Amino acid sequence: MRATAVAHPNVALIKYWGKSDTEKNLPATGSLSVTLGGLHTRTTIEFNEQLKQDQLLLDGKADAAADLRMVRCLDELRQHAGVSLFANVESANDFPTGAGLASSASGFAALTVAGAAALGLSLPPQELVRISRLGSGSAPRSLFAGGVWLDIASSPGETICSTVSEPARWPLEVIVAVTSVEKKAVSSTAGMESSRAASPYFDGWVSSHPQDLADGLSCFTDKDFMRLADLAEHNCLKMHALAMSTRPPLLYWSPATLACMQAVMQLRADGVPVFFTVDAGPQLKAVCLPEASATVRERLQSIPGVLQTLDCTLGQGAWVEPVAKA
Ligand code: PMV
Repeated sequence: MRATAVAHPNVALIKYWGKSDTEKNLPATGSLSVTLGGLHTRTTIEFNEQLKQDQLLLDGKADAAADLRMVRCLDELRQHAGVSLFANVESANDFPTGAGLASSASGFAALTVAGAAALGLSLPPQELVRISRLGSGSAPRSLFAGGVWLDIASSPGETICSTVSEPARWPLEVIVAVTSVEKKAVSSTAGMESSRAASPYFDGWVSSHPQDLADGLSCFTDKDFMRLADLAEHNCLKMHALAMSTRPPLLYWSPATLACMQAVMQLRADGVPVFFTVDAGPQLKAVCLPEASATVRERLQSIPGVLQTLDCTLGQGAWVEPVAKA
């Protein structure tokens, strides 16, 4: 009744921001992401009859905020297995937690996969998608490798997730410029809910999104980097315009985030194949072709306020760690 799973975080190039159903945690838009090999969440779950409640240790500390969503995922798994045992969950990230590096995505992907394995369940992939989505709307994408599409349109009330491009087919690289390791003041869950309720731009975001998603998918089909670059920056800035126009405003950038954006735009204008994206936090992710990674890394490291850079190739979907033989 014990298993460990590992998942990579992911970064959306065509993003979701806002839900259509908060109870089912259904995103209001689809999304398209890349899975970030090189960064890991490792989660061990043990179901144990001695426990009186579920327990979570995140990076060695009890985490009450993650508890409710975690219990929801565990309840679904318990229901599948027909058991009522509580679980001890220990999760650790090898990158900053809760700072806009998608730790909730890798966290809930690893939790779902580890929990299913600990209970001996072999669930269909789309059921793992549904359960992990109850924890975080971006988590299903960390179950899959490479370029990943989360589709909300083809089956109303559900989400379908799949790889659209294996890592080796289009080996993009992502260099993360870390500009702060502080936890963000407003979580994405709270932030996107207030954008839905209190930004005049929310309807425009949702109605213009299907075209962005269709274009993004076709960029992957055609491996058209420059078209993807323009589109992903547009979609990212549109999401942040929505966040900034929320009352009270959500401004996730630091001065260094903006300096990195301008540096990336200048590199691309100079012919370097790179573009940026930024999630609900101040880190910048520079997506580039492999031949550009050294130039991009060096440029980002020279920007005041960049604390470190992290290198990612495209990674695989979440997996169960084999049990070490004694
Ligand atoms: O998965 P959540 O609910 O933590 O929200 C993720 C939101 C963004 O990272 C900003 C966008 C996305 O699609 O990942």
